[in-house]
Amino acid sequence: MKRRNFLKIAGSTGVILAASGVGIGSFMATRTPHAALKPWRTAGGSQYADPMRRALSFAILAPNPHNRQPWVVDLKSGTEAVLTCDLQRLLPATDPFSRQITIGLGCFLELLTLAATHSGHRAQITLFPEGEPGEHLDTRPVAHMQLIEESQITEDPLLAHVLYRHTNRNAYDTSRSITEDALHEIVRAASIDVLAEGVVHGPQLQALRTLTRDALRDEILDPKAFQESVDLMRIGRTEIEANPDGIYLGGAFLETLNLVSMLTREELADPDSSAFQVGLDMVDEQALTAMGFVWINTLSNDRFDQIMAGRSYLRVALRATSLGLAMQPMSQALQEYATMQSHFEQVHMMLTEGAGERVQMLARLGYAEEVRPSPRWALSTRIKRS
Ligand SMILES: Cc1cc2nc3c(=O)[nH]c(=O)nc-3n(C[C@H](O)[C@H](O)[C@H](O)COP(=O)(O)O)c2cc1C
Repeated sequence: MKRRNFLKIAGSTGVILAASGVGIGSFMATRTPHAALKPWRTAGGSQYADPMRRALSFAILAPNPHNRQPWVVDLKSGTEAVLTCDLQRLLPATDPFSRQITIGLGCFLELLTLAATHSGHRAQITLFPEGEPGEHLDTRPVAHMQLIEESQITEDPLLAHVLYRHTNRNAYDTSRSITEDALHEIVRAASIDVLAEGVVHGPQLQALRTLTRDALRDEILDPKAFQESVDLMRIGRTEIEANPDGIYLGGAFLETLNLVSMLTREELADPDSSAFQVGLDMVDEQALTAMGFVWINTLSNDRFDQIMAGRSYLRVALRATSLGLAMQPMSQALQEYATMQSHFEQVHMMLTEGAGERVQMLARLGYAEEVRPSPRWALSTRIKRS
């Protein structure tokens, strides 16, 4: 059963709601998960008493895989803190070496660095001060963070776009192409520690659309990999407020479907269900409406590279936001598990030059309708209690 039928049935949910005495208007009005979105409203506010807390209140808005928010902060003072990774928040099926989790921590550190400039501080970041983890992350610190006040520091202009940067999974407008100039501005935002490139037309754009579509379809059709995502889906306001992380399926429409049992975790995981088929259709829509791609490569693949890729991804995403462009990472082909092997080889053949060079991030670009921010845990819940 395809989307048309699904929508037809979904349309009848209005009748069901009416029959059960629930006004549609009032139902819709109550569906925004206000508490889960609060960190977007309070970032940088005066309730954060010191420069470190203020900078951290922005850093928790960083993009990160499956919105796991794996950061744990040990506050040492108003200007000093240590970042570790919450090992309960990894993605073992699709990110077996926590490469992407580490990239997300890089995004966090870059956002902290940008936010520090707001109060005239330079963030001095020392990565892996007790040694770099190998194949698996461990409890050792990811970074020591020290904020140093410097009179000549001015606010980084990228900071102004933080509250407007959201991963946008909508279909992108295929009537609006992206200029080479805009692409140039975006890749230029990356740091010199990485290789950033992109494409906005021609056969390579088409090839990447197909490749990202195929990889994402294969991930959804891999029961173990897809179950990892399904387990992290938060359906409706109550679930989102209880666990403001993971993949959020909110809004009045989706909640209504959930209410009539058309959008449950079981339905989503069942390849014969209409919800599953709609999910597959959405994959096509996302990949095939990409109007450009950017990618961030590193010459090797150690933990420093992964952090640097994350730091650059955050800057690139903010620059895209500043130009009014939507962006969505399409990471499946970069992932290191068996189902992805041929896509992984293909994407590396297409986008790298030397042996050992790694594509760390691949994201689509385009113009699209805006999306809502995604939920976040409050900063206070991410601070280590001693
Ligand atoms: C390393 C990394 C990989 C990601 N991969 C994907 C992806 O494949 N598909 C996707 O839709 N979002 C992807 N994301 C985006 C996250 O899901 C998103 O950042 C998170 O849900 C928080 O939402 P926000 O970016 O709107 O704040 C990725 C983010 C990072 C940092």
